[in-house]
Amino acid sequence: MDAIVVKNLTKYYDGFLAVDHISFSVKWGELFGFLGPNGAGKTTTVRMLCGLTRISEGDAYVAGYSPLRELKLVKKVIGLVPDVSNLYPELTCWENLLFTGEMYGIKKEELVNRAYELLKLFDLMDKKDSKFKQLSKGQKRKLTMAAALVHKPKILFLDEPTIGLDVRSRRAVWSMIRELNENGLTIFLTTHNIHEAFNLCERIMVINKGKVIAAGNPTELKRRFSGSEVLEVSFTGEISIEEISQIPGVIKASRSGGSFKLVVSDPISVIEELVGKARSRRISLNYMYLRGADAEEVFLKIIGEEHA
Ligand SMILES: Nc1ncnc2c1ncn2[C@@H]1O[C@H](COP(=O)(O)OP(=O)(O)OP(=O)(O)O)[C@@H](O)[C@H]1O
Ligand SMILES: [Mg+2]
Repeated sequence: MDAIVVKNLTKYYDGFLAVDHISFSVKWGELFGFLGPNGAGKTTTVRMLCGLTRISEGDAYVAGYSPLRELKLVKKVIGLVPDVSNLYPELTCWENLLFTGEMYGIKKEELVNRAYELLKLFDLMDKKDSKFKQLSKGQKRKLTMAAALVHKPKILFLDEPTIGLDVRSRRAVWSMIRELNENGLTIFLTTHNIHEAFNLCERIMVINKGKVIAAGNPTELKRRFSGSEVLEVSFTGEISIEEISQIPGVIKASRSGGSFKLVVSDPISVIEELVGKARSRRISLNYMYLRGADAEEVFLKIIGEEHA
């Protein structure tokens, strides 16, 4: 069975439908992105899978276990980094790790080794005896990740792992996520940031208003939702704008300086066509620049709010 299997998973808060019959599965070893705008139902889904809130309808299996009926078994194999840290502000980094490990019943000697290993891995050795509340945001996020890994889970849930972090800390967290995944950890990552999802995840599922609205790998999603791109091109010899305008896939063509500026719907076939035309004239392309679709535009298109 896959690492996570979800069938018609649904959550009502009183009468409010927060997650609406969603189905998907995550393979072992996958870095799966769960992308959606604020209020889409991401955290609610994570909380149902981790047994922190009750499933209203449908089924879920995490590592083959049901969060409804086998929560203890689920908890043993998962780690959760919630959107707001669950660690204790007044305890030191070291104490937080030991406390978390004790809750999992890890023996003292093994736990001490594991805590050292994690502090090293997350580059927090020099903060060992600092209180959690004294850490920077990025360090807090890293320690929260470390604590979620203390019992060596097989599946890690990351809820908005880089929210509020600056560029450098965000990259540090991204490279940790990649490294953990390369070492075999299955990761379920929620984010509202399409750059993060495109950057990290092999497969992305997009959720809005509780419903799954798209799924695929970043390239597929870009291709499906990108609409038009801008291609700038120039040749070593003459070629007319009329001829270029007639190429299928060219929406608009204009001259700009010595080059052409083309709005295209299908850049690959347009480029092939341009190369062919140049060849038949015994000239060649001497400059080409393709401005791809903007990730944020793609995101707004996917969630159907491109004019927002
Ligand atoms: N405990 C709750 N009681 C009632 N409604 C809730 C509760 N928790 C969440 N909701 C509602 O359910 C919907 C989904 O919320 P959720 O926190 O899952 O969204 P999210 O995708 O994680 O958003 P964000 O990106 O802002 O974290 C929202 O409309 C929210 O107001
Ligand atoms: Mg959330």
